[in-house]
Amino acid sequence: MRTDPFEPRWLTANQRVRALGLTDEQTRWSSGDSRLSRGLYDLVRAAAPSVVVETGVCYGFSSTAILSALEHNRKGHLWSIDLPTLDPNGRINSDGVRDTSHVVAPVGVGAAIPEDLRERWTLVPGDSEVELPRLLAQLGEIDFFFHDAEHSYRAMMREFTLAWERLAPGGVLASDDITWTRAFQEFAGVRGLRPVYFPKALYLQRKLLRRNVLYRGWVRKPSPG
Ligand SMILES: C[S@@+](CC[C@H](N)C(=O)[O-])C[C@H]1O[C@@H](n2cnc3c(N)ncnc32)[C@H](O)[C@@H]1O
Repeated sequence: MRTDPFEPRWLTANQRVRALGLTDEQTRWSSGDSRLSRGLYDLVRAAAPSVVVETGVCYGFSSTAILSALEHNRKGHLWSIDLPTLDPNGRINSDGVRDTSHVVAPVGVGAAIPEDLRERWTLVPGDSEVELPRLLAQLGEIDFFFHDAEHSYRAMMREFTLAWERLAPGGVLASDDITWTRAFQEFAGVRGLRPVYFPKALYLQRKLLRRNVLYRGWVRKPSPG
């Protein structure tokens, strides 16, 4: 039987977070579900990007999925921006919505990421509003962008617009939590892009609320000609 190359990384990431002694409640925003991470892994495998940027790391499950794919593609580097908060109640985003998805101090951002994947990873600490334009200017052109930081309309639209400008033709822009605001649909709609979605089951305190909610989406930048 062929072994799935993503599976061992996913297990290691989960073990690393469990070893921190955190409760399910403290990690529920980060661990997501393995189907979503698997979808991200497959997307990065297929897109085979060289330069990848993500915003929103938390414990680093999405980073682990991306880095595993880069490792198996044998190319690419991931730059990840995150601004952790020490407030146990999280923070209020610019839409006035409380966001409780953050690492629990003093545990570090990206704690889940297996050691042997870190060579291809650069963490950029800070607010994406400041750090994303700076990083994009430094990198020039990027091949893959994944948003999972502040899910306010303003922040999502700002990140999509900035990343799109720097995205190479054929590059991929993906976003988590696309149902929080209308930013992703609007961004794709005005450009005539057809998003592809990753569905997810939604749970509240382990009770299934809805199946196949459109949760993550991605669009590809058209190539000229
Ligand atoms: C949903 S979590 C990320 C989960 C992660 N992508 C995963 O799949 O495991 C959101 C993260 O965004 C970070 N964040 C929130 N607002 C931010 C901002 N303005 N700039 C940078 N990071 C931010 C939080 O610290 C938190 O770690």
